[in-house]
Amino acid sequence: TRRVTIHDIAAAKARGEKWPMLTAYDAMTASVFDEAGIPVLLVGDSMGNVHLGYETTVPVTLDEIAMLSAAVVRGTKRALVVADLPFGTYQEGPVQALRSATRLIKETGVGAVKLEGGERSLPQTELLVQSGIPVMSHLGLTPQSVNAMGYRVQGRSDEAAHQLLRDAKAAESAGAFAVVLELVPAEVAAEITRSLHIPTVGIGAGVDCDAQVLVYTDMVGLTGGKVPRFTKQYADVRSVLADAAKEFAGEVVGGAFPAEEHTFH
Ligand code: KIV
Ligand code: NA
Repeated sequence: TRRVTIHDIAAAKARGEKWPMLTAYDAMTASVFDEAGIPVLLVGDSMGNVHLGYETTVPVTLDEIAMLSAAVVRGTKRALVVADLPFGTYQEGPVQALRSATRLIKETGVGAVKLEGGERSLPQTELLVQSGIPVMSHLGLTPQSVNAMGYRVQGRSDEAAHQLLRDAKAAESAGAFAVVLELVPAEVAAEITRSLHIPTVGIGAGVDCDAQVLVYTDMVGLTGGKVPRFTKQYADVRSVLADAAKEFAGEVVGGAFPAEEHTFH
């Protein structure tokens, strides 16, 4: 088996084939999704919220992304693994972006990196692509800018929709191989999808995107509390884990575990 490449991703758009992407943050979960045939896994800086217990993605460090990216690569054989460049590791400019991305590519074995911003990240995207590092771009709601933009649907006004299209075109012209559109009206995402040769990956961006991504803990019902409306919960893993833990606790307290078959003499 060989890994999925950005050329496979380009070919899928040419054939009009849709594809799924999920986040992953550890080797075990990544191996499950790899064996389930998910072609692209994102080591998202959403690990900050769902995995590391931060309030936002802002505090996530390159060390944290690197450690979990290496685990996801080790846990997979086939998926293209994409790692987020965390906040503060590329905003200074193209040289900082190249230093950060090079470290992830060399130390972890990921096949691509993702960064937020279209026009504002154009020089970064260009230098990475020219250096041989595939780049996925992330537009619309960009959580690393939460302190400035909040969490709301982006691109609702005509002006904002035009800016989104300009950002998407900028990402494409800089050489990005795909563009994530987060929390964007479906009509705007559909127009961007039609206007680009590279695939759009939607999250809260309607059904017309070329691909769809979800944060896996939301997708399996593991995230506690309120999940965004654009998420669909395909399982209730939180209940499965809680029930198992309660049953184990009850059996320990009651003396039913360990039983004879778990015991050595
Ligand atoms: O960090 C993340 O999980 C992401 C996806 C939501 C696209 O960036
Ligand atoms: Na992210």
